[in-house]
Amino acid sequence: MFHRPFVVVVDPSAVRDILASGKHKRCKTTCKHEGYIFGARWQGSGLLTDYNEARLAQRLAIFEPVFHKDYLMACLPEMNKVAENVMRQFTFLADGKTLISLSQQFERAIFDMLCKAFFNKDMDSITCQRDEVKQAAFTLLSSRRKEKSDPWTNVSFYRRDLRSSTRQACALLRKTGASWLAERENQVSRGNVPNDVLTRLIELSRVKGIVQDDVLDDFMVFMIATLEHTPNVLSFLVREACRRPDVYKKLNEEVDKVITGSSVVDEKALSDLSYMDSVLRETLRLYPSEVEIVRITSSKVLSKGCVIPSGTPVIVSPLLSGREESFFENPMEFNPERFVKNGHSLPNSSVYFPYADEVREKFHRFGEVAMKVLLSKMLQKLTILVFPDQTFGETNLPCLRPDRGGVVVFNSRFAPHKYIYDV
Ligand code: HEM
Repeated sequence: MFHRPFVVVVDPSAVRDILASGKHKRCKTTCKHEGYIFGARWQGSGLLTDYNEARLAQRLAIFEPVFHKDYLMACLPEMNKVAENVMRQFTFLADGKTLISLSQQFERAIFDMLCKAFFNKDMDSITCQRDEVKQAAFTLLSSRRKEKSDPWTNVSFYRRDLRSSTRQACALLRKTGASWLAERENQVSRGNVPNDVLTRLIELSRVKGIVQDDVLDDFMVFMIATLEHTPNVLSFLVREACRRPDVYKKLNEEVDKVITGSSVVDEKALSDLSYMDSVLRETLRLYPSEVEIVRITSSKVLSKGCVIPSGTPVIVSPLLSGREESFFENPMEFNPERFVKNGHSLPNSSVYFPYADEVREKFHRFGEVAMKVLLSKMLQKLTILVFPDQTFGETNLPCLRPDRGGVVVFNSRFAPHKYIYDV
């Protein structure tokens, strides 16, 4: 009565059919569930949860300009500036002894970088969190984690305060979205506005059949929902690179070579950071953050001689495929060389699909650039040392996250303090 059966598919040809053919659609029940938290509408039926294919295509077309490489590159100088601000805070923590939870710090840093790029707003949550909008954003993220890891949170008498503060946080963020949009609407009428996510949301509000709540759903997607993965992936990357001195050294050498003198990470530097790219790909293989992608089959799917009938809920998992022995040698070993282009064939998209498919990769350039900019600056200025006394596991609700966020200690690269946790 309380269960739903799913078929989990790992066979590469079936995975290719399910993801790349575009025939099989999102699961309505899962999407509806993901749009709400404790009864409050948070991302509703926005970009990540819209199961109406025609409407989703319309939405994606409206946001196309902000996913375009030109727009991303235009945002680079501002993203660099925000990252510099983040670095001031990190340098302050670089005393060789303060224990730092990577996920917690990266959540704030990436939030600041993406808010600047998407809404042209300076959030500065890395240094100051007293602002109620920022607090609401982080309340919502942590409540979602609690809701997923403990379903009783939805009903428990003892969790009623959490439910209430989450609903308030949702309402506050949507109200903030409405006021930012009204502000931008005024600017649009006067002309000369950036073609950022806010301007695109105004465009969306003019589409027939889209009401204000639908527009606010997408505001919430860009403000919060897309923030769930990037900090986790970057935390895994840093934690694992710190545990592999050879990888860390190569990353450091590459950054020193590519970003000489100036501390600006520009378009050329991004494309020259090829080893960093391989480390990122390997992190996304072993720790893909989004562990399952759900579809409803719209026609028969053949998998290893078995027929999965039309209308079946199926799960394809970047995590299971990425850790499958028959696809990757020593799958649990963190080995960026798998993705280094040196003559051998690179993993293909039916065994390695952290963003579901190649079409969706373009939506993910923003997160990747934010990670690369921040990581380059960290490697330039800090020595990052992994705290030895921690478990190196992961939790996976609602997405894959390192235990305790991944604990490290920062040290200045130029005036190092004594590292007191040496073992
Ligand atoms: C490393 C971090 C991220 C990971 C691992 C990730 C993963 C994914 C996956 C697996 C999907 C497909 C879900 C499905 O089809 O059911 C997806 C969809 C999407 N993601 Fe991300 N995501 C990340 C960060 C971001 C960021 C920062 C943005 C903001 C630009 C973003 C925007 C989107 C959009 C708009 C879609 C929906 C595309 C569509 O269905 O056509 N993601 N993401």
